Amino acid sequence: MACTNMPPPPAGCEEFVSCLENLFSLSLNDSRGMIKDFHEEMRKGLSGQASSLKMLPSFVDRPTGKERGNFLALDLGGTNFRVLAVQLDGKGCAAVQAVRKFAVSGEAMQGTGEQLFDFIADGIDAFLTENRMKRSSSFPLAFTFSFPVAQTGIASGRLLEWTKGFTATGVKGRDVVGLLNDALKRKGISCIAVSALVNDTIGTMVARSYGDPTCDMGVILGTGTNACYREKRLKIEKLKDRRFRKYIMINMEWGNFHKVRLTGYDEQVDGASVNPGAMHFEKLVSGMYLGELTRLVLMDAIERRLLFLHEPKAAGAFGQKGLFRTEDMSLIAEDETTDLLRVEGFLQHRGITVATPHDKTFLKHLCEITAGRSARLGATAISSVISWMDPELKDRHTVAVDGTLFEKYPHFKTGIIAVLQELHGAKAEKILLVHSKDGSGLGAAIVAAVAAAESGLNG
Ligand code: BGC
Repeated sequence: MACTNMPPPPAGCEEFVSCLENLFSLSLNDSRGMIKDFHEEMRKGLSGQASSLKMLPSFVDRPTGKERGNFLALDLGGTNFRVLAVQLDGKGCAAVQAVRKFAVSGEAMQGTGEQLFDFIADGIDAFLTENRMKRSSSFPLAFTFSFPVAQTGIASGRLLEWTKGFTATGVKGRDVVGLLNDALKRKGISCIAVSALVNDTIGTMVARSYGDPTCDMGVILGTGTNACYREKRLKIEKLKDRRFRKYIMINMEWGNFHKVRLTGYDEQVDGASVNPGAMHFEKLVSGMYLGELTRLVLMDAIERRLLFLHEPKAAGAFGQKGLFRTEDMSLIAEDETTDLLRVEGFLQHRGITVATPHDKTFLKHLCEITAGRSARLGATAISSVISWMDPELKDRHTVAVDGTLFEKYPHFKTGIIAVLQELHGAKAEKILLVHSKDGSGLGAAIVAAVAAAESGLNG
């Protein structure tokens, strides 16, 4: 029940908020500095020097839109994996004919690699049966594997690091297509031929650029975060293989960008993660960590007796890792009612029955502070890549974006656009952010079609 007749906000609230706003701020100057640092890391990564940006060549360029045929796609990126059947009409239109989603269990994520790939092979098996696909035929399959992979070819690549809470053993350093093939063999599935290995950023960009030649960047703002873009082959000094075309898409792995200012809360999130010291940018921006980061801020406010002063259950309700998620923040941010009734409903659901109007607005404001920084950082990173490709912003750039933060978090997209406008003025109009929904699987199928058409890399 809401208490409307409560004392004014506890003393110290304003100071706490202004201190947080400072800690989580990213001024225009900070953004400009970050863009410089980003460019420096990009340059180093492309030339093969040590860099927090891995800048991984993908072995493919944008599609032409003429690719055609039927392909299977397997999309493993986080808590779900999906199997899709995709049809490409050769006229820029890619359609999903069938799709099945499977939840990746904690055991599959954090057990052995064999368990994880067996689980995936079982999913493929179920999909083939469900869709009555004849096992006497051969189906080309594109594998979207949304983790840092050093590609050794269009359909092979070694896992560099696990991210997003995965720790499955015996996979790091190995060819993930080989591991998938081994699992398929173990299950007696011989009708699948893996013909492409694709990062989700590449899939997202390819899905859009199949019908839109202005698309030259793909971004994921979801459980994890990352981007890819189209790079001139000659600028990729570390690429010794000269058989490629003029352009190649680069998977940046920007989640690992490390020239960022960490607050004490960020350090706690990092310390409690399965990969401390790595993926700093991802931990500041993405959905997997944002809820936890905000929970730590909430707990700090509760412990300082600035929030839920009249509700003894609050500390327990938010007292453990994972008890506040980015989805909860989304719900809170969505509440535009004067009395914040949805926030109240959310709190009641958590057993918090005594929430003052101050508690509700304060909670909402704390979420705005952390999510606001995430959007500003995301926008600055997008601006870094666009200004790298086109410093004067002469051309139009369509950026294909996917991920729940971008798609579902209230005001996230408008927050990004506002920062792009601050950074580029009227020219920001040339940067068009489009939602490429579930593009990663579709795009992977298109890459498989490119691979099938080329059957190898041509000059
Ligand atoms: C992975 C990237 C991926 C991104 C978005 C990150 O954790 O390292 O490869 O693109 O998440 O899914």
